[in-house]
Amino acid sequence: MERKKFTIVDMQNKKRDGKKITMLTAYDYPMARLVDDAGIDSILVGDSLGMVVLGYESTVPVTMDEMIHHAKAVRRGTKYAFLVGDMPFGSYQISKEEAIRNAGRFMKEAGCDAVKLEGGDEVAEVTKAIVDAGIPVLGHLGLTPQTISKLGGFRVQGKTAEGATKILDQALKLERAGCFAVVLECVPNEVARMITEKLKIPTISCGGGPYCDGQVLVTNDMVGIFDRFTPKFVKQYIKLSPLILDAFKKYKEEVENGIFPDEEHSFTIKEEELNKLKKK
Ligand code: KIV
Repeated sequence: MERKKFTIVDMQNKKRDGKKITMLTAYDYPMARLVDDAGIDSILVGDSLGMVVLGYESTVPVTMDEMIHHAKAVRRGTKYAFLVGDMPFGSYQISKEEAIRNAGRFMKEAGCDAVKLEGGDEVAEVTKAIVDAGIPVLGHLGLTPQTISKLGGFRVQGKTAEGATKILDQALKLERAGCFAVVLECVPNEVARMITEKLKIPTISCGGGPYCDGQVLVTNDMVGIFDRFTPKFVKQYIKLSPLILDAFKKYKEEVENGIFPDEEHSFTIKEEELNKLKKK
């Protein structure tokens, strides 16, 4: 069957049919091409960019311009996947007008299909405003890295009945505000299951266990090229860092010992041209 661009309707159909939605992050052209070629449904240009690519301590310093720059590259490498741009900290908190303007940049300048923003009650109104402006919004509840200092660190959310109820209420609020799906980060399996059953829109797990309608992982974590820390919920499908490190070490050794570049990897001119050159 010919592959078509994945849409929000496909996402809803997958929930209805009990089929899992797949999502991975990407931050540049080559990785976007690989994710897209693998048949992944959706690509998130996450603000995890700040930590896994730009080397910041958290996602908080990431700017709109940095996000747009990377989202444009991802767009160029993406043909079929549904592309979501992550609104960075400070880009949707100041006013509805500014939030719509920034969300609009993801659509107009980077060709995204939707935006994501973190939070529950506090972002319900701005979510509705962005949706009303014609921009699809993906919600993000549970562990919300942009407000990590408020949450008291990277820890599982909704571990008490009270905490879980709060996440469920917020999820329902985001659904009413018009979100087309919601990411549940670092919540217990049972809580994610209950929310998934109560919502009409799909839930995408990021450490929310197997009962969500879909899964998302930070690509650099799952291919092992970010080793500052690996969250418990991340499965590393390959460890690229040691392979890349070996290649760099071998290159250094070969350059230093005159092994690289060899004949295969360099250019020569014809003998007669060389003789003419020598006479000059
Ligand atoms: O920034 C990001 O990559 C995310 C995912 C972890 C959901 O928000």
